[in-house]
Amino acid sequence: MSESVRVTVNAQPREFEPGPDETAVEVLRDRLGLTGTKLVCGAGVCGACTVLLDDEPVVSCLLPATSLDGRAVRTVEGWSEGCGPGLHPVQRAFMDFDALQCGMCTPGFVTEGIAFYQRWSRERGQQEPTRGEVVEALAGHLCRCGAYPNIIAAIQAACAGRIAATPARVDAEAKVSGRAVYTVDVRREGQLEGRVLRSPHAHARVVRLDLRAAKQVAGVHAAVELVGVDRRVRYVGQEVAAIAAEDRVTAERALEAVEVEYDVLPAVIGAVSARTPGAVEVWSGRRRQPPSSAEGPLFPTPWHGNARGPTASFSARPRKARRLIAAARSAGDPLLVEGVWRTAAQVHTALEPHACVAHWAAGSLTVWVSTQACERIAEKLTKRFGLPRERVTVVAEHVGGAFGAKLELTPETVAAVELSRQAAAPVRVVLDRLEEMTVGGHRPAAEIQLTLLPARSGELSALSVTAYGDAGVAVGSAIAGLCRLIYPTKAKELVDFDVVNHMPPGLPFRGPGGAVACWALEQAVDEAAARLGEDPIVLRRRWDPDPLRGKLYRWAEGLEAWRGRPTGGQSGRFRRGVGVAAGNWFYWYQSKCRVAVGVRDGRLTVATATQDMGTGSRTVLARAVAGAFDLDPMSVRVRVGDSSLERGPMSGGSRTTATVVPAALAAAHKLRERLVREAVTRFGVRAPVAEPAGLRHAGGLLSWAEVITAVPDCQVVASRPDDTDTRRHAPRPYAGAGPAGAGLDWALRLLAGLRTGRGYTGAVHVSEVEVDTLLGRVRVLRVFGGLAVGRLAAPELARSQAAGSIVQGVGYALYEQRRNDPHTGVVLSAGLEDYRIPGIGDTPEIELHFLEEGFEHVPGGGVGLGEISTLPVAASIGNAVFNATGWRPYELPIRPDRLLEGLQS
Ligand code: FES
Repeated sequence: MSESVRVTVNAQPREFEPGPDETAVEVLRDRLGLTGTKLVCGAGVCGACTVLLDDEPVVSCLLPATSLDGRAVRTVEGWSEGCGPGLHPVQRAFMDFDALQCGMCTPGFVTEGIAFYQRWSRERGQQEPTRGEVVEALAGHLCRCGAYPNIIAAIQAACAGRIAATPARVDAEAKVSGRAVYTVDVRREGQLEGRVLRSPHAHARVVRLDLRAAKQVAGVHAAVELVGVDRRVRYVGQEVAAIAAEDRVTAERALEAVEVEYDVLPAVIGAVSARTPGAVEVWSGRRRQPPSSAEGPLFPTPWHGNARGPTASFSARPRKARRLIAAARSAGDPLLVEGVWRTAAQVHTALEPHACVAHWAAGSLTVWVSTQACERIAEKLTKRFGLPRERVTVVAEHVGGAFGAKLELTPETVAAVELSRQAAAPVRVVLDRLEEMTVGGHRPAAEIQLTLLPARSGELSALSVTAYGDAGVAVGSAIAGLCRLIYPTKAKELVDFDVVNHMPPGLPFRGPGGAVACWALEQAVDEAAARLGEDPIVLRRRWDPDPLRGKLYRWAEGLEAWRGRPTGGQSGRFRRGVGVAAGNWFYWYQSKCRVAVGVRDGRLTVATATQDMGTGSRTVLARAVAGAFDLDPMSVRVRVGDSSLERGPMSGGSRTTATVVPAALAAAHKLRERLVREAVTRFGVRAPVAEPAGLRHAGGLLSWAEVITAVPDCQVVASRPDDTDTRRHAPRPYAGAGPAGAGLDWALRLLAGLRTGRGYTGAVHVSEVEVDTLLGRVRVLRVFGGLAVGRLAAPELARSQAAGSIVQGVGYALYEQRRNDPHTGVVLSAGLEDYRIPGIGDTPEIELHFLEEGFEHVPGGGVGLGEISTLPVAASIGNAVFNATGWRPYELPIRPDRLLEGLQS
């Protein structure tokens, strides 16, 4: 029997008997309920589990529980009111500087920041540390949302004593103090742990599956099959069965007792193998049902072996494009730009993994799930389990990042629900990091064959793009079609293919298809400018008719970094380069969504069944309604993340803000009318008129705060109103795309509930890099991000999100590439220790420029920005590398070996 461990945690004495191999983070989270400390990588890489041990920061996931004996631990909760002296200056600085998004990494950063602050204050007083000093101190922490710029600023400000008292985000305090509850933190009475048995084969038929022995393992409460009706598995990691047991260790032991017999079948791994003549077909027959990697609907499309396509194309006079290009090619036209660009699979790897807690009680199902679509998941569960809608509730109070990977009803959620039903107890299923890397979702890899022909006059005369998306077993690639959006030309051939193979399915990832299209197209345009001997921005201004981007080009031209960019060949080890790239994205909103606004116990309330995955939907809602009543947004009670609220939008396609703000404003307007009527009854006022500051009446002015505290509880609901018509100013997306465009618009509306608003969002990014030609390393020094997204609903949060998108773009450009075994289909990138995402030291200096016009037809004046801001980043870095070295990267990521090889060729 193990010996008791006595430890002081947040000034409280604690005693426990550690289990074998138990770690400190497990003790804190599972035994003591201190879930502010997050378990993310389990490998000491991300720093999310950092605590102070005898005042020194340590990662608790690598710390044996036994080593806590006789020590003092302080967790992030230890600085909050009730446990200690109140919020620490570092926590307050995080709130003031909006140094967080989803908040999953925040407890670790805060704790490390506090340790640094204490050291710094002792040694340097209130001297402000440099950026480099802060970066060095926090180098052991990862933030997938890319909140690094504000984290650095917050630590600097805290050390210098520069803290204001105005939190940017309404849920900031919950996140900096560890009180915010994510799905991985949910604990229900009698909760069991579920684990999933996964296929070790890339392609096999399940001949026999016997769960009886597993069910006999002591502590096991339920076991369910997950293999589909065709009894096939089509990738390593596909779900076969699941077990619920009293703890995770028992569940994993029981998985080993499951008897499975596979008939192993030939497999094709990777798109190249899949396109080989005679390759095994991943999907066959008349009714192929591959999963989708797209956000929108799939159209009926022909198949040729493992290639599906061409999908709905946006070509215009393709024969002419082919003819012009062929003529230029045979004439050896030096202006003809041709290339094959490739991109790698980029894993979403949100710090909160896919997680679910399911609980059946009295015929009703409640599911806590880390999702970006709680309403949609509730609908899917309703359908799948044949329940009345009112008997299904999906809760996602806080979501630790998603980026497109948490839009669907996923197998682990289905497993948790099935297990809970069988066990008659709540069941939790949380993916570990290897599962997250394997089946948690990734941006599909792609090959893009692109030809672009400028005329001698300098106009764009033809464009041809053929793209092959590799989303494993999934389909839904849309890359080439997106290339029609920026530079109009009358002759264009744009076709997309999916190439399926026996790898896990890809999923939408921030601007799906857009970042890939930009990578190829924006480098080709850059190349055209080089061949025409023209400034790349001047060329874009001429080719790109969008008036908003036109203004962004002017802004970019005025940047000192652009004006001072190198123009001649460079020598020496370190070379500097500056590159530009543009991006174009849609303005979407979700129809049939509603927002409730009301008064409860003298406070303004707002509620809708959307969710906040770190993008700030809570804050955006609070600000929208607070603004209508001249109140502090912090005084508004916001409810999101609950499917029982009014129908709200999923968070994908940058649609959330553009959906909820207009609906919230409409509801606030209705509430004001209601309050005017209430005031007549309650206060007996005469001739009342609603004004921004309050209620004007014959006897003076009542502030809205006075009215709200006096009226009885009430609530009004409003739907998302249509935009006002501004035909002249805002182009209709898909215009000029003929029947394909009209069809897509119709299908999005009908099948995805997605309305395509008028106007495009736009981006023009300028990146400055330093290339180490000896080691092949690229360092991004500065990124200037120009964005046209209309009026900002919450400016600080918009800046944070845009900067985070740029950081993710840096990762896509330079580091991120999931590694697979090309023979077995096993994902080799097992966790954050060998899948490199950008760290704080990789963060460039980021300057943002928002053009807050162009969407006056949208109530509230603004639209979403999460996707547009990341699209051109990688291409601008690629163009900067070309500017520095004369070598153009065609393949992502721009790895040192590729760069060195390129420089030598
Ligand atoms: Fe850092 Fe989301 S805020 S991971």
